[in-house]
Amino acid sequence: MRFLGRSWEMREAETTPEALFFERRRLIGFGAGALAAGLLGRAHPARAAAIDGMLPAAPSAAFHAAEALTPEKAVTGYNNFYEFGFSKYVQSASQKLKTSPWTITIDGLVEKPLTLDVDDLLKKVALEERIYRHRCVEAWSMVVPWTGFPLAEIVKLAEPKAEAKYLRMETFLDPKVARSQNAPQYPWPYVEGLTMAEATNELAFLAVGVFGKPMPTQNGAPIRLVVPWKYGFKSAKSIVRFSFVAKRPETFWEALGPDEYGFWANVNPKVAHPRWSQASERRVGPEDSVPTRLFNGYAEQVAGLYKGLEKEALFM
Ligand code: MTE
Repeated sequence: MRFLGRSWEMREAETTPEALFFERRRLIGFGAGALAAGLLGRAHPARAAAIDGMLPAAPSAAFHAAEALTPEKAVTGYNNFYEFGFSKYVQSASQKLKTSPWTITIDGLVEKPLTLDVDDLLKKVALEERIYRHRCVEAWSMVVPWTGFPLAEIVKLAEPKAEAKYLRMETFLDPKVARSQNAPQYPWPYVEGLTMAEATNELAFLAVGVFGKPMPTQNGAPIRLVVPWKYGFKSAKSIVRFSFVAKRPETFWEALGPDEYGFWANVNPKVAHPRWSQASERRVGPEDSVPTRLFNGYAEQVAGLYKGLEKEALFM
């Protein structure tokens, strides 16, 4: 497959934070091994059984990018999930994560704090399939059919109090299964956050499947955020906790590199990353170069969220 080829090594080397790059050579070999073992695209059997009968979900009439889908093998075989290694080929290492049962906590400034299994959460919502563009800050992109439900459903369930201004999301923490979580220089667990207006925007989505199948572990099983107008790092994977908070949470990438990665991280072709341009992106699969669009092409849905915030670093 071309997306695994050497031709992109330079590009990735230029665009991936050097600090996260030290394992790359070794892990490319690891990734090839996973391919040979045919592990691509699989969810855990227990996860697949839990969600059996709910997929595939009906396609959303409103949310479908009119672009060719990225090949499934690329979506499930070329990933960022630093908990399992700093290369793109983490599908094999991520299989160690047990994704069923999976407990989710909803807490903080809410009327209805809740702890429940993801499968009980799924009984409370209606699943749909949405096709979204997915733009990584590293200047590659995909077009992905996610299955899930609006993030606003979590807000409805929790009934946040008036003091709640942000939704903080946290990935699992288990250094025994996620070996990179043993690296003390990183602020684990992975944390992301949105304002309440962003969290309740119609585009904000929680995905539990992809290509009509249960979410493979490497894509963030059993449940991950998808906020397509922002750089991909905002879309936290394998979430265990949703907390409604008054103060803006410090995110994983902000804590690591505040000069390069901000809280807002809205896609903008005119605002370069300090080390590379964001004017265009590489479509993984066909490997075409595509012009990047403001808010990743979703300005109509989200530009209004940022009125009055022009002094903020909205695009990093
Ligand atoms: N979530 C966690 N917990 N850990 C990560 O390393 N990487 C982010 C985001 N969510 C990441 C994460 C980045 S940089 C991107 S581009 C997307 O996940 C990649 O999602 P994908 O592998 O499904 O394409």
